Amino acid sequence: MAKKAIITGITGQDGAYLGEFLLQKGYKVYGLYRRVSSPSFWRLKELQIYKNPNLYLLECDITDSISVFNTIKKIMPDEIYNLAAQSFVQTSFEQPLSTMQINSLSVTYMLESIRLINPHIRFYQASTSEMFGKTDDEPQHEQTPFAPRSPYGISKLCAHWTSINYYESYNIFACSGILFNHESPLRGKEFVTRKITDGVAKIALNQLECIELGNIYAKRDWGFAKEYVEGMWKMLQTSMPDTFILSTGKAYSVKEFVTLAFEYVNIPIVWENEGLNEVAINTKNNRICVRISPKYYRPAEIDSLVGDYSKAEKILGWNPSCSLQDLCKLMMEADLQRNRHKL
Ligand code: NAP
Ligand code: GDD
Repeated sequence: MAKKAIITGITGQDGAYLGEFLLQKGYKVYGLYRRVSSPSFWRLKELQIYKNPNLYLLECDITDSISVFNTIKKIMPDEIYNLAAQSFVQTSFEQPLSTMQINSLSVTYMLESIRLINPHIRFYQASTSEMFGKTDDEPQHEQTPFAPRSPYGISKLCAHWTSINYYESYNIFACSGILFNHESPLRGKEFVTRKITDGVAKIALNQLECIELGNIYAKRDWGFAKEYVEGMWKMLQTSMPDTFILSTGKAYSVKEFVTLAFEYVNIPIVWENEGLNEVAINTKNNRICVRISPKYYRPAEIDSLVGDYSKAEKILGWNPSCSLQDLCKLMMEADLQRNRHKL
């Protein structure tokens, strides 16, 4: 009989790729989305899984414990992948309480429902490298102490410990994937890589003159989301629940990513000035194409994150293969196409 998996956050980047992956594996996929006036399934449509007969889309707000309990009881899944979250760090500073409700409390609702309904359901928690925060360890590994720097990081750390606690207390198979940044053509435009590829595509097509960014010296370990969802699945197929880092082991600055994106469209740029006055100039037309705006600075920043994925490689046989250059190319191609056709 086909396995049944619940994915919370099916409308998000990872939810869509994981849905595609599990359907290919023969699962019945129950994708949960919250009620909004106009729900958007564009990612599921782009991956051409929206009409798949084994994909069932159900309304469920994960901040509503009754909705969570009843949904799990109705579906009786084998596995639950909890990907839904208020996932934007910047917003977590402006909406700390709802971030906590969505990212932390909901995990207790899910694990408590599993405990009461069927403790054999396997649970994946989407933990994050943001939990490492201000750390001196480089690269970060599973034993690196946590020191989160944002309400988002704090909320995710609470959820992380909750899932560990449900294993230790009730033997529930709860795994946490500490995933470093992963991007794709399906990334939301609020995140820096997609903001850059969308902006550079528009500049190349003469639809925009300049992008505004915040801290371009921040470094992140950026992988390809499609490869990371396979790691989530692998975590739930092991004999013992555990915590695993998924990352590439390489860190690049936002500035380096900007340079890669402009190189892809053959726009030569030079950087001038420093701090808030730093700009990139398009040397083809001598116009400023990147500016710095304090609007995008965070109250507390994480300067650099880079992960050691050797445990996942050893135990799960998982490793990343997409370079940042290839990732940037994939995202640029998609954004050129979308902006050319105003999609
Ligand atoms: P995303 O694209 O922002 O997707 C988040 C999903 O959560 C969306 O489907 C969103 O629905 C849903 N959601 C938010 N609040 C909800 C609520 N109250 N009830 C039900 N659904 C709700 O995020 P992602 O990049 O796919 O990330 C997936 C998960 O991995 C998140 O938990 C994120 O924190 C974590 N993570 C991501 C990364 C990364 O680099 N991508 C790294 C580490 C961890 P709407 O469409 O309605 O907004
Ligand atoms: N979003 C954004 N916009 N970030 C900018 C900008 C800008 O204009 N300019 C510079 N940055 C810097 C941010 O300050 C941060 O240091 C870095 O670019 C990456 O920002 P985001 O792309 O917003 O991602 P994030 O690292 O804060 O969070 C993402 O990765 C986490 C894993 O480490 C999200 O996907 C989280 O959900 C995820 O947990």
